[in-house]
Amino acid sequence: MANATDHLWMHFTRMASYATDEVPTIVRGEGAYVWDAQGRRYLDGLAGLFVVNAGHGRTELAEAAAKQSAELAYFPLWSYAHPTAVELAERIATLTPGDLNRVFFTTGGSEAVEAAWKLARAYFKRVGKPVKHKVISRYIAYHGTSMGALSITGLPGIKTDFEPLVPGAIKVPNTNFYRAPEHGDSPEAFGRWAADEIGRAIEREGPDTVAAVFLEPVQNSGGCFPPPPGYFERVREICDAYDVLLVSDEVICSWGRLGEYFGAQRYGYQPDIITTAKGITSGYAPLGAMIASDRLMEPFLTETGMFAHGVTFGGHPVSCAVALANLEVFAREDLVGHVRANEDAFRATLEKLHDLPIVGDVRGDGYFYGIELVKDKTTRETFNEAESERLLRGFLSTALFQAGLYCRADDRGDPVVQLAPPLIAEQQQFDEIEQILRAVLTEAWQRL
Ligand SMILES: Cc1ncc(COP(=O)(O)O)c(C=O)c1O
Repeated sequence: MANATDHLWMHFTRMASYATDEVPTIVRGEGAYVWDAQGRRYLDGLAGLFVVNAGHGRTELAEAAAKQSAELAYFPLWSYAHPTAVELAERIATLTPGDLNRVFFTTGGSEAVEAAWKLARAYFKRVGKPVKHKVISRYIAYHGTSMGALSITGLPGIKTDFEPLVPGAIKVPNTNFYRAPEHGDSPEAFGRWAADEIGRAIEREGPDTVAAVFLEPVQNSGGCFPPPPGYFERVREICDAYDVLLVSDEVICSWGRLGEYFGAQRYGYQPDIITTAKGITSGYAPLGAMIASDRLMEPFLTETGMFAHGVTFGGHPVSCAVALANLEVFAREDLVGHVRANEDAFRATLEKLHDLPIVGDVRGDGYFYGIELVKDKTTRETFNEAESERLLRGFLSTALFQAGLYCRADDRGDPVVQLAPPLIAEQQQFDEIEQILRAVLTEAWQRL
């Protein structure tokens, strides 16, 4: 077999680092575990990339894909339908919060985000507010890599190479309570302040220019920032007051990750649009979706009107068949209920790590956690660039992997270890995660 570095251009990868190191090559998965080409087993602490919610090795999902390819491998959703897309759209509409019942399929998350921004712009053009085109999102948030989605993304490090980006993408503070610049003593006051920052940004930009606000229920980048109490309630009020669409970017936070089908349900708010992908098929085929309401579709229902947007593989029949089979597994095994029943145990197990000097904060909800690493627990001092390079990029990810845990040490914000295991995980896996983290973080501290 060819070497992994001969021709394969890996995503977000320092290819040069593999001139000397071997590329880890994963060949098989079963339940919460994967195996590499040498037969070593790893706990999949990140469900691939927040994707394999139902767990690895589900032959019934593979069979659903095979059956659909044999019957109808492909047909576009461009003026034609196929049964699995129709059925899946209907199934999704029964699971979404409130009136979200119009499902526009894509192949992944960036395309869903891109579609949502385009819908927001086209919608306002049609309802007589043609200047509404800007989007607001949060610092350090990741919303994808296509040019529109990248503009919405709030991570300078992955944007500068590609500038100039799409204009009109405005950033506001995120809900990192551990490093709250204001109201660090009151989650409620902090939440109110962070939500009001969105209102102030809308005022600054001019309400008649702002089309949408893109927020994840729990912001992933930066290491799991859950919303403070009252945050989304206030954001909803602000969006209503200024006629701005609230887009809940649930590419990670839907399909059980937070113990509900959708993150908006967990925190009790009603979005105007949901963007989703990843866990919708548990990764057995690629699929994403933008989900809107009749209200947002209505202006496109004139005789010659249409939403002039689409992608060849959006709502691919095989992906839709796999998603339906995946949702069958969710229903039969009550995976969403399983997360709710076990999330306290997951949290309690991770919180044991608080006794380590390097662990500053353990935060998240459901099966979605970030552990922030610090140099000084009392002052919350973080690592400088050289330490981050040596510790996180140089040591931590590889050491965790070698110890049998696949997860991510990320420093796109402050340094964090991110955890999001398959939703079938239970105490045995929580303990394994805790034990490996304890050993590796202890060593990391000694190396500092
Ligand atoms: C919140 C969010 N939005 C959008 C995306 C982009 O999704 P994709 O990589 O499928 O294009 C991601 C990917 O991780 C994400 O986490």
